[in-house]
Amino acid sequence: MAARDPHRFVNELDETAIDGLIARLESRAQDSVFAGLLDKYVARLDLPPSARVLEIGCGTGAALRALAHRGDFAGKAIGVDQCRAFIEAAARFADAERVGDRLKFQLGDAHCLDFPSASFDVVIAHTLVSHVTAPLAVLGEMARVVRPGGMVAIFDGDYASLTYAFPDHSFGHKMDVALANSTFNNPRIMRDLPRLLPELGLKLAEAWGDAVVEIGTASYFRSFAETYVPYVKRAGLLPTQAVELWLKEQRQAMSNGTFFAACNYYTYLARRV
Ligand SMILES: C[S@@+](CC[C@H](N)C(=O)[O-])C[C@H]1O[C@@H](n2cnc3c(N)ncnc32)[C@H](O)[C@@H]1O
Repeated sequence: MAARDPHRFVNELDETAIDGLIARLESRAQDSVFAGLLDKYVARLDLPPSARVLEIGCGTGAALRALAHRGDFAGKAIGVDQCRAFIEAAARFADAERVGDRLKFQLGDAHCLDFPSASFDVVIAHTLVSHVTAPLAVLGEMARVVRPGGMVAIFDGDYASLTYAFPDHSFGHKMDVALANSTFNNPRIMRDLPRLLPELGLKLAEAWGDAVVEIGTASYFRSFAETYVPYVKRAGLLPTQAVELWLKEQRQAMSNGTFFAACNYYTYLARRV
């Protein structure tokens, strides 16, 4: 079977697989490094207290909950996702954290949003564009629904930089590539944004990169490997036994303090001209 990005094809997955993705999204959001990367760009959005915010590809709504908990944001936000189970989980989690009255979650496709043009002050795509079918169409929709002068925030990994240490460097590299290709429809899209944004009437305001690195112990990359290695196996990109051996080696490295993994993440903040 060819590689099929689980987030792109989430609606084809069974309940167990969807529950696994929900758990992954929630554990990632609680990871202190990852939470810090969200916080870093939200702090620079210059949000008016009553800003109208949209997050496309909101998943379980973790980013919007973090926004709602910020002292400098008193507005309301909408999250859109293509997966009903994610939307329902997002509403449940928001209620549980007592921010449900300020956050609304609805089903929708990021390629054709059901909102009039210029409806929002800020539109966020937090680890969405690497997964979508047509990134340019999604970026075009972000540009359409944000008001002139409003801000678009795009955050995602550059998964061509994703790497886990493995003693056999040649297989380790193949596994890095297989992980990127089975998990992300567009593993290299974040390199294209400086070229694509101006074509859509979006003027780059700020952009930066952060390396997420875990050495010795693992948290973020533990859940990444445990969640996505089954998709590498299913895609048949590498021999199953070799993939299992790789995972066994990673678990061993995590338990004996010799673990290493890294990936670059990029943030682009652009204004609608
Ligand atoms: C990696 S998750 C990120 C979720 C959330 N932004 C977060 O950071 O926790 C990617 C999300 O994009 C959603 N998605 C992928 N393609 C989509 C599309 N065409 N329209 C709407 N949502 C989409 C998936 O269902 C999934 O929830």
